[in-house]
Amino acid sequence: MTDGRRRVRVVPKGPILVEGPVDVQRPDGSVLHCDRFQVAVCACGFSATPPLCDASHRRRRPRKPTGTAEAANGD
Ligand code: FES
Repeated sequence: MTDGRRRVRVVPKGPILVEGPVDVQRPDGSVLHCDRFQVAVCACGFSATPPLCDASHRRRRPRKPTGTAEAANGD
């Protein structure tokens, strides 16, 4: 953190990394207190431990574009 400003870094196809310590508010309003120097917030929607990243984004196959033969076959 520099000048009191917290840095947030968006990882392509991955989480949003936030400098900690930070409080993360869940959609239900409850607050998760994170004391780590860096917190990874899930941006892919596949984490089993939302709102935090559990690296599930690494196991997800990239989505195929719609309108292709593979998409029509469900592959
Ligand atoms: S960004 Fe890592 S599990 Fe969603």
